Amino acid sequence: MATRTRRIKSVEDSIRDTDEPEHRLRRHLSGLDLAVFGVGVIIGTGIFVLTGVVAKTTAGPAVALSFVVAGIVCGLAAICYAEFASTVPVAGSAYTFSYATFGEFVAWVIGWDLILELALGAATVSVGWSGYLNQLLGDLGIPLPETIAGETARFNIPAMFIALAMTGVLILGIKLSSRVTSVIVAIKLAIVLLVIVVGVFYVKASNYTPFIPPAQPTETGSGWTAPLIQTLFGFAPSTFGVGGILAGAAIVFFAFIGFDIVATAAEETKNPEKDLPRGIIGSLAVCTILYVAVSLVVVGMQHYTDLSEAAPLADAFRSVGLPFVSGLISVGALAGLTSVVLILLLGQSRVLFAMSRDRLLPPALATVHPRYGTPYRISLITGVVVAVLAGLVPLGTLAELVNIGTLFAFVLVSIGVWVLRRTRPDLPRSFRVPLVPVLPIVSALACLYLMLNLPAATWARFVIWMVIGIALYFVYGRGRSRFTTPGDREDAAAANAARRA
Ligand code: ALA
Repeated sequence: MATRTRRIKSVEDSIRDTDEPEHRLRRHLSGLDLAVFGVGVIIGTGIFVLTGVVAKTTAGPAVALSFVVAGIVCGLAAICYAEFASTVPVAGSAYTFSYATFGEFVAWVIGWDLILELALGAATVSVGWSGYLNQLLGDLGIPLPETIAGETARFNIPAMFIALAMTGVLILGIKLSSRVTSVIVAIKLAIVLLVIVVGVFYVKASNYTPFIPPAQPTETGSGWTAPLIQTLFGFAPSTFGVGGILAGAAIVFFAFIGFDIVATAAEETKNPEKDLPRGIIGSLAVCTILYVAVSLVVVGMQHYTDLSEAAPLADAFRSVGLPFVSGLISVGALAGLTSVVLILLLGQSRVLFAMSRDRLLPPALATVHPRYGTPYRISLITGVVVAVLAGLVPLGTLAELVNIGTLFAFVLVSIGVWVLRRTRPDLPRSFRVPLVPVLPIVSALACLYLMLNLPAATWARFVIWMVIGIALYFVYGRGRSRFTTPGDREDAAAANAARRA
């Protein structure tokens, strides 16, 4: 069912496309595999690094509340993702959902926007991986020179290595990726539980006072967003105070990124209608509980003003005289970040795969490997680009772009659930968002609010990136998409029928 004006690709067409032999992905994953995938990508730089920065500079011990706020916002979006994924179980996540609801232009915009979350996110985490590796090698007395490893490296060789190595794993098959992930997730969960169970005995009540340090003027959320928030909500984002908790939430949001990527594996899932909602909501719930517990323990072990900004968890244990546990945490963080890189790359390759299958990108890219059953061309290109980004570009200031890009996708997915309920009430939905349209609207507004808490410079970069993407659509995709055939430029139904005949 196509509309002439907005080029909406029907849900039925999307699902039918997944059956074309040359574009068929293997259905290997169960609900548990998906939840493991979710945890594998969610727990990473956010909890291992950002907890310290946010406690020290933005929220104080109340960083735990920042995690609660970000977790609630993500929970709302997760419920929307779950309905979409159970209705449109097709690779591509927010891109595919937007194609079915808002039409091709918005779908392209979202696909382009997701590059910020996935490719840029993978590059950012690869750089973090390199930092942890060097810290560990340093502990062993064999640090790499700072010019080739860590956040300030000019040519970050370990970051490039991890991005390329994970690309290799992805190309060899999603089942292998899923096995590698399971092992890593087990290590990561063990380390996080260790932090909670051992750390709780070293908590000092005095470290919790003041729990919400008094507000101070700050640069966080500076530029035009701060006055805007002041006008809309009556207070400006600040360091500490209630504003600090909310500004902190916009940053620790990074720690939750990933539950949405479970939806990109829709086509490779055995029972997508049931398993996707379980995988998405289950992994998010587990991570939220762990984050709140870890952050409460860490700010209880060390006064927030003393926390390390680079490795707060490991450092808190060193501060209480447990260097062995600290070493274990570094190993766990290294393993943990490995699976984050792997799954962000997986998500990116599946979104680009869906876009090339729709011919918004060159269709040859969407070819699936005859033996491994994976979109190897896209995966390879993605891996090389991410490796170059991670190896050569200083990414520190770009990390907030990952947050803004992801939040934007969440806004559209939330609104999309409501739109699809109105335009296609007939579709089977094995998972339904309660209280439509209230919940999707609250979800979209909550994500928008977190976006407004990000600095003006991040907004400027975001707008530039989106303008480039929109220009590309009009130069390339619009004229070549599946909606464009020689005889009928606008009617995708006719185009699809001709192609299948
Ligand atoms: N949520 C992931 C992390 O924290 C991206 O590293």
